[in-house]
Amino acid sequence: MDRKEFLYLVGTGVAAITIGACLGGCKKTTTSPSAPTVNFSLNLADPANSALGTNGGYVYSQGVIVARTLSGAYIAVSQACTHQGVTVVYQGGSNGFYCSAHGSTFASSGAVTGGPASSNLKSYTTTLSGSTLHISG
Ligand code: FES
Repeated sequence: MDRKEFLYLVGTGVAAITIGACLGGCKKTTTSPSAPTVNFSLNLADPANSALGTNGGYVYSQGVIVARTLSGAYIAVSQACTHQGVTVVYQGGSNGFYCSAHGSTFASSGAVTGGPASSNLKSYTTTLSGSTLHISG
């Protein structure tokens, strides 16, 4: 084996190891935490839910973020970002949800509008009856 053959074999080996490591370590780390199935009510007169008395406010309950849009509608989606499970916040100005961990954004329906998340947040049905807001789905 001459020097050129030796260097070729070493180079090929290093490339194979590097590619193998990258394939294992560079794959997308997107996870989709399972969104809860819920059926509960929030008393809007309860001080714990006072944020929902203001347009743009939101609260968390049972794995769900419940928000009041700037137009006064109630919306609810799963609170765990579908990228790596960090809790999202509601942003009234854009009427959507934002994950500060890596910047994923979601529409008010929970649909992904910006990655790295690739799965939608689960959307829940909200029904207002008097001062009771029911969330299910
Ligand atoms: S956990 Fe990564 S964007 Fe939300």
